[in-house]
Order: sequence, then C-alpha cells, then structure tokens
Amino acid sequence: MAKRPASFICQVCGAAHTRWQGRCESCGAWNSIAEETTAADTLPANLRGGRKGRLIALESLSGTSEDAPRVRVGISELDRVAGGGLVPGSVLLIGGDPGIGKSTLLIQASAALAGAEHRVIYVSGEEAVAQVRLRAERLGLAGAAVELAAETNVEDIVATLSEGRKPALVVIDSIQTMWTDTVESAPGTVTQVRSSAQILIRYAKRAGAAVILVGHVTKDGQIAGPRVVEHMVDAVLSFEGDGAHHFRILRAQKNRFGPTDEIGVFEMTGLGLSEVANPSELFLSNRDSGAPGTAVYAGMEGTRPVLVEIQALVVPTNLGTPRRAAVGWDPSRLSMVLAVLEARCGIKLGAHDVHLNVAGGFRISEPAADLAVAAALISSLSGAVLPHDSVYFGEVSLTGAVRAVPHAMARLKEAAKLGFTRAVAPEAKGSSGGSSGGSGNGAAKEPLESPLATETVTSLGDIVAAIASRAPRRAPRERQEG
Ligand code: TYD
Ligand code: MG
Repeated sequence: MAKRPASFICQVCGAAHTRWQGRCESCGAWNSIAEETTAADTLPANLRGGRKGRLIALESLSGTSEDAPRVRVGISELDRVAGGGLVPGSVLLIGGDPGIGKSTLLIQASAALAGAEHRVIYVSGEEAVAQVRLRAERLGLAGAAVELAAETNVEDIVATLSEGRKPALVVIDSIQTMWTDTVESAPGTVTQVRSSAQILIRYAKRAGAAVILVGHVTKDGQIAGPRVVEHMVDAVLSFEGDGAHHFRILRAQKNRFGPTDEIGVFEMTGLGLSEVANPSELFLSNRDSGAPGTAVYAGMEGTRPVLVEIQALVVPTNLGTPRRAAVGWDPSRLSMVLAVLEARCGIKLGAHDVHLNVAGGFRISEPAADLAVAAALISSLSGAVLPHDSVYFGEVSLTGAVRAVPHAMARLKEAAKLGFTRAVAPEAKGSSGGSSGGSGNGAAKEPLESPLATETVTSLGDIVAAIASRAPRRAPRERQEG
C-alpha cells in the first residue's frame, strides 16, 4: 500500500512532517507546523504518474549558444545588480522589509520600461488599483503605460497575461498574497506560495517574459516562509536599508545570469527612489574627522569602489565580561582583530568595552576592512586622531601580518577622486609575482602609478607604532616618510 504523504508542513522552513508537533525538528521554530494538503493529493490523475516519458535530445557542452538577451530597465543601479538588465523568461525575487520601498522601486522600473515601448503588467495583491495609482501620481509617473491589476488568484493572472501582446515584464507584488486553485491550504502558507510561484515560473519560461516577484522578509531576515521559492527562481535580490537613513541598497544574493557581489544604491526622496551614482560621497557626507576612533575604509562592492567611515569606541568596562558589539561588520572578525592586536601587538583590551560601527548603516563583508578597523580601534584607545586625508585597507592575518587585497588600484583611484591624499595599505599584489624578483624585471607586471602617497604596512605592529606616535601625550609631530 502506498504511504500517505506527509501533510504537516513547517511554515518557516517548509519541512514536511508526518504528524503535528509543537516544534519543527528541522529549523527549531515553535508552533510553526500546520496541516496542509500536499501537491501530490491534488495533482490531476494524468500528472500523478503512468505517462510514458518522451525522449529528449542530449547535447554536448561545446557548441554555439547566444548570450542571454537582456532588456534594460533604464534604472542603471537595478540593471547592474540584475547582471546587465532583465533576462526574458527569468524570474527574479526581490525581498525586503515592509515599507523599505519595494513597491516604489518596481513601479518606477515598470514605468521606465513602459516608457521604452515595452508591455509591462503590474499585479498588486496587497493594494487596490487606486492605491497603486496614487503612488504613481506621487512619483510623477501617472502617464506611464503600465497595465495594472489588483488580483491574487494565479490562474486568473496567468490567463490574463497570456492574452494579447507578450509582456516584457510582469511584477507580482507580493508572492505571499497569491493563491492557486490547485492547492487547498490558505493563502500565505508555504504550500500555496510554492505552488503559486511554480505556476508563475512556468508562465515566465513559456512566454519568455521577465517576472519579478516581491517577497516579504521576516524579522530574522529570511524571505518569509518559503525559503523554497529562493531555490526556484533565477535570481534573489534583497532590498535593504534602515529607518534612520534615506539610502537603500539593492544586493544580489543569488543570480543565475550575473554576479552576486554587485550592489545598487538608491536614496528615498519625496519623489521616490533616486539613484546614487557615487555612494562614497553619501557615506562620507557627515564625517566628523576631528575625533579619535574613526578611519575611512576604501572598500569594494562588486566592481565598484565604495568609501565608508569606520567608527570605533573603546572604553573601560564596568562589566565582568567586556562588551563586543559590531554594527555593519562581522562580530567574529572583530574578535579576531582584537585577538591579533592583543597577541601580536601587546594591546590589552580585556578591560575595555569595544563598539564598532560602520557609518551610515552600510554593511561590509570584505576582510579587507581589517586594517581600517584596527586603525579605528587603536585610534580610539590611544586618543590619537587619524589624519583626515588618509584611507585604509588590508587584510590582517592571525600572525599579525597585513596581506594584500584585490583591486588596490581601483580603491586608490576612488580615494583620490574624493580628495584623499594618503593611503595606508599593504604592498599591492601585482608587484611581487614570485619569491625572487631579481632578474626578469617588469616583463609581466604593468607599471602601477599610485594616485596617492601610499604608506606601505607589512604588519599590524607598523600601524600601531604609527598611530601611537600621534597620541596626544607625545609631542605632536608629523610622520616623516616618503
Ligand atoms: P513602499 O514602496 O510601499 O514599500 P514596500 O513595498 O517595500 O512595503 O514604500 C513605502 C515607504 O516609502 C513609505 O514609508 C513612504 C516612502 N516613500 C517615500 O518616502 N517617497 C515616495 O515617493 C514614496 C512613493 C514612498
Ligand atoms: Mg509594497
């Protein structure tokens, strides 16, 4: 006898259980399991099995195939994150907190594409048509030829989309509100969301239209409920930002058609989202360069250099276990830098609380920020103000050595463009190919002309000494180096 399929599904992770229980064993969430009719129960008989397989042609890896054609939206920050425009037939999921501006971004994208003579359909499952219109009016886009619908049934939506000219873009806002007749569970459940997404994905592939799904994010940053949808779509973008700041960052988490390290930066204004072509200016706009504990980090986000200020506060603790807090940076990397400072440079921080903040709410994922973090920490501890015209980058290893990082030239150029005159960094990678550099000089390496005066550091000790020499108790003197 066939086993009855599991029909208790965790609404957080999508795991299937054979009976109800209070806690999901798979993800640990409490009270998240609900009974659902699984897809196998509801599939029409002809799909349940028994059909003889059709032969498919197998092909070789070599052979000609064209690059995926792209439809450029015309919002370059969005196009770049998507990998150079939307790929027809692909499905993109945009996740983000409520109120972050997903609907605003997508109505702007829809209007931009519609302006380029493409057919664009915007389906809202959350707002009435009048509300969407109101937003478009506020954005000055009321004249755009976007076709609107307020609908939540996927079958009705697909039937409507299949009529008339093929749309270049279909926006579904949001996938959590969609439901399909083929599944009996309530809208918003994992099964409903997954089945609805499946139908829309099938539509996208068949019709060759780009589909953008909006997904809500839970408080722990996951796209709510259906992580499964993330695996089904071609690209997952997250739209981030926080209430205290006006800028928003669009980040690719997964992309079958492009890189995942690109970001798009927007600013939320009274007239919608405007693109920020030079994010460094935005992140450095409120710099307070007269205080100790701040260092400017020359970072990279994808192919683009971004300069941000790193702020550290090191204060004597009155707790048994000192606090270590990092906002915008990996806390375990902060612990590592602190441990290296203690073990290799003799800087004892066991009796100090350490707070680290990346200004402007930016989030850094590169280890190249180690050196800037260390500089900010030492500066705060010693009270020495770092020179306001310097940028820092370099990776700190456990031995205390400072290692080269990629794209040194791009970082230096960006810093020079923004008026910085000095950089503190490890020796660039390209300048030492092997261990011996005696005879064949300059054949492979291109001459690197740094646009800034670069102070080369090889170990964390170098930078500790340099900053200590600026500390207030000593006679203030400029370092003399060429
Ligand atoms: P919205 O796009 O509705 O967010 P989401 O779809 O992600 O939930 O954006 C809502 C917020 O954006 C709201 O708090 C108001 C703000 N906003 C502006 O500041 N300027 C604007 O022009 C618009 C349309 C919205
Ligand atoms: Mg919305």
